[in-house]
Amino acid sequence: MRTKLVNSAAARSSELHAILVPVGAKINLPSDAPKANTWKSDFSDKNGSSITLRGAAGKRWVLVRLPKAKDVTAEDVRGAAGVARKVCEGLGKPTLSIDLSCFKNAAAFVQAAIEGSMMAGHDMALMRSDKPKYLVKSIQVAGAGSSKAASQALKHGTHGAIANLATRDLQNAPANILTPKEFAKRARKVCSSSPKLSCKVLGEKKMAEMGMGSLLGVSQGSVNEAQLVHMVYKPKGKSKGKLALVGKGLTFDTGGISIKPSGNMQDMKFDMSGAAAVLGTFVALGKGAECQYEVHGILGCVENMPGANAQRPGDIVTAMNKMTIEVHNTDAEGRLVLADCLTYTARKVKPMRIYDMATLTGAAIHALGHLHSAVIGTDQKAIDQVRDLSAELGEPCWQLPINEAYRDLTRGSYADLQNLYAPGQGAGTIAGACFLSFFVDDVPWVHLDIAATAWEGPPRSYMSKGGRGIIARTMLAVLRN
Ligand code: BES
Ligand code: MN
Ligand code: ZN
Repeated sequence: MRTKLVNSAAARSSELHAILVPVGAKINLPSDAPKANTWKSDFSDKNGSSITLRGAAGKRWVLVRLPKAKDVTAEDVRGAAGVARKVCEGLGKPTLSIDLSCFKNAAAFVQAAIEGSMMAGHDMALMRSDKPKYLVKSIQVAGAGSSKAASQALKHGTHGAIANLATRDLQNAPANILTPKEFAKRARKVCSSSPKLSCKVLGEKKMAEMGMGSLLGVSQGSVNEAQLVHMVYKPKGKSKGKLALVGKGLTFDTGGISIKPSGNMQDMKFDMSGAAAVLGTFVALGKGAECQYEVHGILGCVENMPGANAQRPGDIVTAMNKMTIEVHNTDAEGRLVLADCLTYTARKVKPMRIYDMATLTGAAIHALGHLHSAVIGTDQKAIDQVRDLSAELGEPCWQLPINEAYRDLTRGSYADLQNLYAPGQGAGTIAGACFLSFFVDDVPWVHLDIAATAWEGPPRSYMSKGGRGIIARTMLAVLRN
């Protein structure tokens, strides 16, 4: 997709001129557009509603409604831009112009306009023979000037959308195709596309040598070999320090011997959404997203299957940090995989901060519904930043607590830890985070539980069914701040 800023938009026959119109705003339509008296009564005040105006020679304008200018949020603009993109696709015009000239502070909405319009060009029909074709090749933003701020915002929006869309495609890929090996292959491919990126992959033999008994215990029931992917982004010039992004990459989670009920089990192909968000973020870094940190992306790619060699409830495994773990439920596997990924990251990478992202607990749905991801961690400033940036980007996170009392509930009887709280303790999302906290050493840490938001959430014009690409745009925002 080409994206750019333009001074003014024209409705050429190959271009749709979309004007975002707050309630009460005056609309500046060119003289060859239909006069207001012909359409005014059809243009509703409802946020996101639209009306298409037809001129001579295939010229088309679309007006998309927003709330009163003083109440408009970035999310409103994202939604309206998504509506404009859909109209443009319907009309078959290759260029979409989004006109923000109704706003005094138009530069502030450039990023959201690009995000919404780019993200709306996606669907879940990955392998359907009648998969819709998206025709828009170029998106331009008019009426926002050409200030440094506006052109930066254009880039941020473009890279955010690239990360989101790449994440969604990975999420939607089924587990028979996107195995751990295939995941690693795709990561290698992404990293070979840019001199700033590199990638190494550890197989099970190497992981066994490093003592990753916790991750390997999960993998042992599957014929698909686990892969630990370690990607590195090095910025041009001096780096501001090392950050690490760690992703849960369960390419499928049957639950193992503690097998899940069959209803909706197919959704467990999305159990790699954390790893997908990390790789999606790296896709954008490879395409020039702004970041002055050295970034390490660690993906724990594993399949959780019941098999003759699968681990059993009651098994005790030894993690890379030498802690012993009693496996009470083989379905609480994400924390077992992340445990070794986190120790590997804390000890081999030694970053100044770790962000992990994972579809870790179904309990996140009980705690927050599908409207917020959960954030828990030890670095309050970093948590506050994630909360603020994610809210602005329309993928909000809400903090849950962690402390010694919660952490103590995860200590084991036969071993140092157990992978679940005792029955009746509740707080499943906190329990997952507490378990992870034993594996980050003293590295400041932020854990994002995206189980409730990775593929479910409020309807949005720019969001398709299936994977929602959640948290990749927030991570990119963290990396450029
Ligand atoms: N991948 C699941 C979490 C999940 C469940 C994500 C539903 C999205 C929707 C995770 O591995 C899991 O199975 N967690 C268990 C933990 C339990 C056994 C303590 C859960 O949430 O039920
Ligand atoms: Mn599970
Ligand atoms: Zn899982």
